[in-house]
Amino acid sequence: MSVFRTKSIEQSLAAADEVDHQLKRRLSALDLVVFGIGVIIGAGIFTVTGRAAQQYAGPAVVYSFILGAVVCGLAAICYAEFASTVPVSGSAYTFSYATLGEIIAWAIGWDLLLELMLGASVVAQGWSTYFVTLLDQLGITWPAALGPAEGWHFDVPAFILVAALTLLVAKGIKESMRVNLVLVGVKLFIVFFVIIAGIGFINRDNWTPFIPPSAPGAKGSEGIHAPVIQLITGMTPATFGILGIMSAAALVFFAYIGFDVVATTAEEAKNPQRDLPRGIIGSLVICTILYVAVALVITGMQPYNEIDPKAALANAFVAVGKDGYATLISAGAVAGLTTVVMTLIIGATRVTFAMSRDRLLPPSLGVTNPRTGTPVKLTLMIGGAVAVAASITPIGTLEEMVNIGTLSAFILVSLAVPILRKRRPDLKRAFKVPGNPWIPWLSAAFCFYLILNLSLETWLRFLVWMAIGFVIYFLYSRHHSKLETTQDESVSEPPEMIKEH
Ligand code: ALA
Repeated sequence: MSVFRTKSIEQSLAAADEVDHQLKRRLSALDLVVFGIGVIIGAGIFTVTGRAAQQYAGPAVVYSFILGAVVCGLAAICYAEFASTVPVSGSAYTFSYATLGEIIAWAIGWDLLLELMLGASVVAQGWSTYFVTLLDQLGITWPAALGPAEGWHFDVPAFILVAALTLLVAKGIKESMRVNLVLVGVKLFIVFFVIIAGIGFINRDNWTPFIPPSAPGAKGSEGIHAPVIQLITGMTPATFGILGIMSAAALVFFAYIGFDVVATTAEEAKNPQRDLPRGIIGSLVICTILYVAVALVITGMQPYNEIDPKAALANAFVAVGKDGYATLISAGAVAGLTTVVMTLIIGATRVTFAMSRDRLLPPSLGVTNPRTGTPVKLTLMIGGAVAVAASITPIGTLEEMVNIGTLSAFILVSLAVPILRKRRPDLKRAFKVPGNPWIPWLSAAFCFYLILNLSLETWLRFLVWMAIGFVIYFLYSRHHSKLETTQDESVSEPPEMIKEH
């Protein structure tokens, strides 16, 4: 059978009813928006903003955020259409299995695993840094040997965080959401606080020039470290100016990652066809408004070249003599990053869950525990891998890897929308992308453009990761796939919920 075989939507929906591979439908629309905000606002706004403003774009990082939001907005509506048509766990993986074929679906699943697990590890390390800073601000000294540091070491706070969150996620989705709700409240409060408290300290002179003139790239941004687009076109690596805005957009894109994770919970939503689009689009809109406001405030409070590339939000207040505010912000960051790590772990387990149910990964991994309603074994495995990656590997700067993984998934999901429209015009679509096929194509083109702004080094690492994935596919998954081992299981009559009325 061809590696491009597809799994029908009916098969996907029927699989969601397998008794020992079933998740519990417990989430409301509000739960989904909170879930989305919980995973979106995190290391991106608390740390990457500073780096993007100081090194690449200056105050024009505001434009980078707007550009990032446009790209994500287009991708978000494509995700929303799919999620409302195929409300099955697995997000982009499941969508592409239904449209583009098994090998592409595998590639996407493997790619999502990179996004989610690496994302969780990177943010756990960011959490650890803020945690130790917070203790320090409170006058408690955390032993340097046990904390985050450069190079190889054992990062105890990151390990404990991931271990605790893994147990919580294994316990149940509703329990996880309850903790999420409280922490998201704290996080939102802090972001509002930064905006409102910061407005008073804005000095308009810091916004002139809003787009600093283009300058040669910093040392170390040549060769393998230069954005691929600059290498292809033979441009001299540059920062600031228009090119700088683009590079910063590819970087701050990290801050938006997460709305797509909402789609991985499709089987746990009470009314997925109505609520998933609301959760995906609603959380993205709220976060965009907050990000643009924070970027304006931070670049207004300090000259861009003095912004701290590591903890911009807290240190902007130290710079204006408000150290107490900085402590509050660190506390908010600790709470905020916690939910990001937790939600990314949930996303990773739901994607591998869907892959194991399709037998592309061993099926025993995806068995759900009848008491908790979660895939406990998978959760422990994913959590274990994230804990190890976060605590002993020097991955703190790999946000770009997470970005390339996510952007690739966005491209495929966008391209898949017009394909599914053509192949299955009969399906009920509770939400439809306007302007099909142009808007989905535009979405794919924008994402591709952002990928071109990532460094050659990131591309090479990504290609290695994908090559490993293809080896596993050809050695294991292809032969064990449910589509290979069972006869056509498609349901002759589509289930009521997906028929067009
Ligand atoms: N968007 C998430 C963050 O910024 C991944 O931490």
